[in-house]
Amino acid sequence: MKNNRSVRNVAAATALFGSLMWGVASAAPAPVPPASKAVDAGARQNERIEALLKQMTLEEKVGQMTLFSSDYDKTGPTMRAEYLDDIRKGRVGAVFNALTPEFTRKLQKIAVEQTRLKIPLLFGYDVIHGYKTIFPIPLAEACSFDLGVMERSARIAAVEASADGLHWTFAPMVDIARDPRWGRIAEGAGEDTWWGQQVAGARVHGFQGSDLSRPDSLLACAKHYAAYGAAQAGRDYSTTDVSEREMLDTYLPPFHAAVKAGCATFMTAFNDLNGVPCSANEWLLREMLRRRWKSPAFVVTDYTSINEMIEHGNVADQADAAAQAANAGVDMDMQSAAFLDKLPALVRAGKVPVAVVDDAVRRVLRYKMAKGLFENPYLACDLPRSSVTFTADHRAAARDAARRSIVLLENKKNVLPLRKTGITIAVVGPLSADRTNMLGTWSGQGEGERCVSVIEGLRASAPSASFVTAKGCDIDSTDVSGFTAAVDAARKADVVVAVMGESNDMSGEASSRANPDLPGVQRRLLQQLKATGKPVVLVLCNGRPLTISWEHDNLDTIVEAWHLGTEAGNAIGDVLFGDCNPSGRLVTTFPRAVGQIPLYYNHRNTGRPADSKNHFTSKYIDMPNEPLYPFGYGRSYTTFVYAPLKLSSTALDPDGTLTVEVKVTNSGSRDGEEVAQLYVRDLVGEGVTRPVREMRGFEKVRIAAGEARVVTFTLRAADLAFHRKDMTYGAEAGEFQVWVGPDSANGQTARFRLTRSVTLPE
Ligand code: NOJ
Repeated sequence: MKNNRSVRNVAAATALFGSLMWGVASAAPAPVPPASKAVDAGARQNERIEALLKQMTLEEKVGQMTLFSSDYDKTGPTMRAEYLDDIRKGRVGAVFNALTPEFTRKLQKIAVEQTRLKIPLLFGYDVIHGYKTIFPIPLAEACSFDLGVMERSARIAAVEASADGLHWTFAPMVDIARDPRWGRIAEGAGEDTWWGQQVAGARVHGFQGSDLSRPDSLLACAKHYAAYGAAQAGRDYSTTDVSEREMLDTYLPPFHAAVKAGCATFMTAFNDLNGVPCSANEWLLREMLRRRWKSPAFVVTDYTSINEMIEHGNVADQADAAAQAANAGVDMDMQSAAFLDKLPALVRAGKVPVAVVDDAVRRVLRYKMAKGLFENPYLACDLPRSSVTFTADHRAAARDAARRSIVLLENKKNVLPLRKTGITIAVVGPLSADRTNMLGTWSGQGEGERCVSVIEGLRASAPSASFVTAKGCDIDSTDVSGFTAAVDAARKADVVVAVMGESNDMSGEASSRANPDLPGVQRRLLQQLKATGKPVVLVLCNGRPLTISWEHDNLDTIVEAWHLGTEAGNAIGDVLFGDCNPSGRLVTTFPRAVGQIPLYYNHRNTGRPADSKNHFTSKYIDMPNEPLYPFGYGRSYTTFVYAPLKLSSTALDPDGTLTVEVKVTNSGSRDGEEVAQLYVRDLVGEGVTRPVREMRGFEKVRIAAGEARVVTFTLRAADLAFHRKDMTYGAEAGEFQVWVGPDSANGQTARFRLTRSVTLPE
């Protein structure tokens, strides 16, 4: 979507100001962000910022609140003449999509040499799961249940992106997503709030590093604030309507975790939330982010979302939209030009207090200083590029992340792992030789040609094996003319590896699917392959949970490999031939059918929980309530057995701890890694219903064949806290159930009691 500076013929602003005075920030300097040493030099910076503010015209202030995109043509990034002129006049504070040291230097030079106040530009980009070296899509990587893997991939992405002139990434996406139809489920950490919090922290730390002023750190941006993943009907940009309790307990905690990790910026979501678009939502921006969480971050809108409020219907025109956004607490306008074109007049007309503008500018300048741009505006232009980009080390990290992200869904007859010699393998399916689609959605500056395809990875893993190949069909077409060749290949082989799934643009922004199954004729090809009688290993490469009931019922072996990035083929080879025993676990429930959506493990119980003997209970008459695969699920080439739980006590004091111990034995014949998962249930809420289970811990442990490990979890009252009936945060005295097990539907269980209720800080 390209910006059109004269977006609409706007009518005069309506009088809004009276109703918007609530919660407007004071002109006092914003608190100092904790994550950065540079920012800790707070007092001097505050003085510097105040001195600058005094010199700035209203137009220059609004310039700092304006973000524009550069364009791209065959020769590289370009900038429209009107934007170049805006930069020269101090009417732009940040640019996104501008890349390369040469191009960013050229724009920065204009800012620091030709503008009156010489304030440097901030350069942003969507660095989502890698920059040149592409890591698994975030949903996949979250299945690794390895926070170190996620922090490292974000760090590597920051190193590569900063070497290309960038300062700021629009990541991580921390939206809780429970609807596989929604294409953007690919960009987050799945359905669970607790897990989402852990991942948000790891990714923010990875992007930002220990010190924002380091040239190789990127400012992170937690998005999309908020409840974007609750889009009705799973349709991107759609309305959301979420109760305050659900916001506080489910959708907001990952954003709060990002605040705690020192996340520099937040991006408003496109959706309206309970009738108020997020880019004009005072409750989100002023009440939650600033007042309750005390975040010093600056808030940028999503692309043209200020202007889109006209379509939402909560404003009459662009001036009205700009006033509502600024007064609600938006600091920077991405691409609408609404602030640039309307804010000065709104301030002069008394519709937006100048204190609101000053405060926004303070926040933006503070992070430009924290980034070190006032000391060296070219800090990201002078980094060595080739020696830190797409290096062997980065590719090795991407391969490791990729194989740890793979989830083994089925291996009924132990067809996997495959032997490497004396075997003929038919590698078929539309994604078997594909490189570009392995990148997944938002693939930064990743290059399809530099990805490892599945067939390349399999050949490299097993050079002595024989391979026959055939594509069979396209990802999404009705053409079956390739079936014969694929079936012939299958007949010549000992085993069939069918690589199927979605193209990279079938998930991500604006890629909702009403039928999230195997597209086109892929299932029909699977039916023909199965009819050959040869064992079929289905390798799925996709960006969302798919409805694969037929595949589940009819195939013995299913590998969920997602879109794994640059090293996809190698990682799949590692797993299929057993060099890596798969250890990924689902962070998103796989429904049996679209009709079950939304389906997530931590639902509430209802007054009539499903009972097959009682018709009048909460269930379907045409399929089970249970998902095809639950949250936390994943198999291994070995098996793990959980002994009964040992609790240190059956009573937990609010200021004490309780340990939960479990012995996990690797009862198979291969070494492997297990993700032991801890869940709790508050059996009686005082006046409010509670989820049937909630994750509160995990431990990923490597256990040698035949050996056992004792895994210990420590529970505190804080692990039991939620927003109570009166909306205070705390844990309530009473009975709790705890489970430790291999997924959210199984495990060993015990009970304990919290001795007293306690109110806690969030
Ligand atoms: C729109 C997307 O919703 C957002 O995630 C992204 O960061 C911006 N465009 C900028 O590309």
